[in-house]
Amino acid sequence: MEERIQALLQEVTSYAATDKQSIETFRLKYISKKGTLGELFEELKQLAPEQKKTAGKTLNQLKQAAEAKFAELNEQLQATPTASTDLDLTLPPIPNEIGNLHPLTLTKYRIIEIFERLGFNVADGPEVEDDWHNFSALNFPPNHPAREMQDTFFVEKSGGEKGDLLLRTHTSNVQIRMLENQKPPVRAIMPGRVYRNEAISARAHCFFHQVEGLYIDKNVGFADLKQTLYHFSKEMFGKDTKIRLRPSFFPFTEPSAEIDISCLICKGKGCNVCKHSGWVEIAGSGMVHPNVLKNCGIDPEEYTGFAFGMGIERVTMLRYQINDLRLFSENDIRFLRQFQSVM
Ligand code: PHE
Repeated sequence: MEERIQALLQEVTSYAATDKQSIETFRLKYISKKGTLGELFEELKQLAPEQKKTAGKTLNQLKQAAEAKFAELNEQLQATPTASTDLDLTLPPIPNEIGNLHPLTLTKYRIIEIFERLGFNVADGPEVEDDWHNFSALNFPPNHPAREMQDTFFVEKSGGEKGDLLLRTHTSNVQIRMLENQKPPVRAIMPGRVYRNEAISARAHCFFHQVEGLYIDKNVGFADLKQTLYHFSKEMFGKDTKIRLRPSFFPFTEPSAEIDISCLICKGKGCNVCKHSGWVEIAGSGMVHPNVLKNCGIDPEEYTGFAFGMGIERVTMLRYQINDLRLFSENDIRFLRQFQSVM
């Protein structure tokens, strides 16, 4: 009997159970009256008195070990976090509300991607600017109409008096900031927000976005400007896109040209978007005026370059066939959600 008890003691102390079911099996087998312990106590009664004494002692040890083990197993079960039965693992997950990029951001990223492959860096500049960087250094004459209150938001000084600061009317200010700080060659695009004091309509807003492009080096010619924008248009709008350059005027470029692309909607046949001309304007451009280079301490005899300024809203409207510019700033979730799967 002694040996059997010792063997059981071994069994009991090494018993492992991690769920309710096997702990109950343990209880029934070793602890309950009808289990092994109960049987052994019955047998104990039949033993001779001296044997009874020693066997009784070890049997009691077994009983205590079994009860301690039972308590320990229960404690372990409670401490381990298990998939409790009141969790329904078959339920579908609660959907994660993820946002999406704004269509203007999507277009900006695409523009950056195209120009980065041509070796253009991305640069940034301030939206609150001084007269020098927004106008004077860009060769605007002192009485140029663009400087007037009609177009420009001036930042007032504390007394309400007109100060030197304004909200930039174009991203061309970053051209000046770059050229002041960096020796040519310079090849960069500069995306950002600009402000103009205009009535809000389907085609105009008091703030919008532009991407400025600038390439200054030795021997940069007009053909480089044309080829760069032609490449961009095909990448952005498809390989069949044609471009057209129309003579134009900007104080900071000479010669200047407006860039049109063939209308994507009617394929050149004429529709409302292109006002039946078959062409849509996407950018202003030109060869950087020698005065601008001089204003930044660069010798125009040594260096030449081109610049362009493109409206991100315009490109986005053509890209996704959006007909009202106000949609970009109204934050209507029904409009914005349509770009969820677009990259
Ligand atoms: N800054 C001009 C505009 O806002 C665009 C432009 C940029 C034109 C660079 C020529 C060169 O209309």
